[in-house]
Amino acid sequence: MLKIKGTLSSSLLLFIVLLGTTVSGLYPTAQNVTWKSTNFKSILTWQPFPSDYSYTVEFFVLGGNKQRNSNCIRTSATTCDLTSSLTDVNTCYVADILSEPPLGATSDLIEFPYTRSPKFCPYKDTDIGRPEFKLEVSGDKRKTTLFVTDPLTALFKDDQQMNVRDVFSEQLQYKVTYRRNKSTGMKVYISKTNVMEIPNLDRGESYCFTVQAFIPSRSIDKQLGKPSHTQCSNDDKESIFDVYSVGVIAGAVLLILLLIIAIVVVTIVCYRRRKKSKESEKEGVPLRSV
Ligand SMILES: *[C@@H]1O[C@H](CO)[C@@H](O)[C@H](O)[C@H]1NC(C)=O
Ligand SMILES: *[C@@H]1O[C@H](CO)[C@@H](O)[C@H](O)[C@H]1NC(C)=O
Repeated sequence: MLKIKGTLSSSLLLFIVLLGTTVSGLYPTAQNVTWKSTNFKSILTWQPFPSDYSYTVEFFVLGGNKQRNSNCIRTSATTCDLTSSLTDVNTCYVADILSEPPLGATSDLIEFPYTRSPKFCPYKDTDIGRPEFKLEVSGDKRKTTLFVTDPLTALFKDDQQMNVRDVFSEQLQYKVTYRRNKSTGMKVYISKTNVMEIPNLDRGESYCFTVQAFIPSRSIDKQLGKPSHTQCSNDDKESIFDVYSVGVIAGAVLLILLLIIAIVVVTIVCYRRRKKSKESEKEGVPLRSV
């Protein structure tokens, strides 16, 4: 009884689905519509690849006018780069992906079926890419400092490419995760600036650091950027060549050699003089006694 009911309702569903596609013009609608956005480079993606039809993307601020990007009209691609179109990072955009006849073909239909994308708010939603950083340990090994470079964005202002600091200003922080090279215990240091001195490290130990952007004002799942490559500081078991340059060492060796030569020369000269004076003494004594 239950089984019959199941088949009945599923065939009914199939019928409705078939009816749906017929009514909406035979073209399948886009599925799995997703925004992929990193550092404000924003690409809309969907599936499946079209066979005998095409897609057109219309984007808009909710309540605003629909706009099109010339690269995404009657396209057979399943991505649309809207980076240059989403000019206001502080607003939220939505896009409709219309299934239309192929490029060049006409249709009697006025309205085409479409799928609406999720809402996308660049300032809140774009992922932050991995930063780069320079690691510097002071000569006396007391200070370990990280110099972080802000990732560049796809945004421009007055023909200048903006970095994430230009966009997020003081909202942007950096999270440093670090551990002793030989240990797995992680520690965290949060910095509001790009130059950070990591406190309480053991002198001469090797530590490994990873840095990622941290925007605490965002929703939890969007707060952290992609982690940087890990960099480790050197431990203290350095050879003399790490501390002094080869030139300095060569100079020191030369100086020591010169010193030894000088000592040897002085010693020999002194010895000879002494010997000479003794000999002359010896020669002189018998002369006088005669
Ligand atoms: C949508 O995504 C799901 C899960 O990743 C996948 O199984 C499905 O095939 C996708 N749809 C299309 C039309 O590719
Ligand atoms: C850190 O540890 C790894 C493996 O444990 C080693 O290959 C690497 O040389 C170490 N780095 C330093 C600077 O000691």
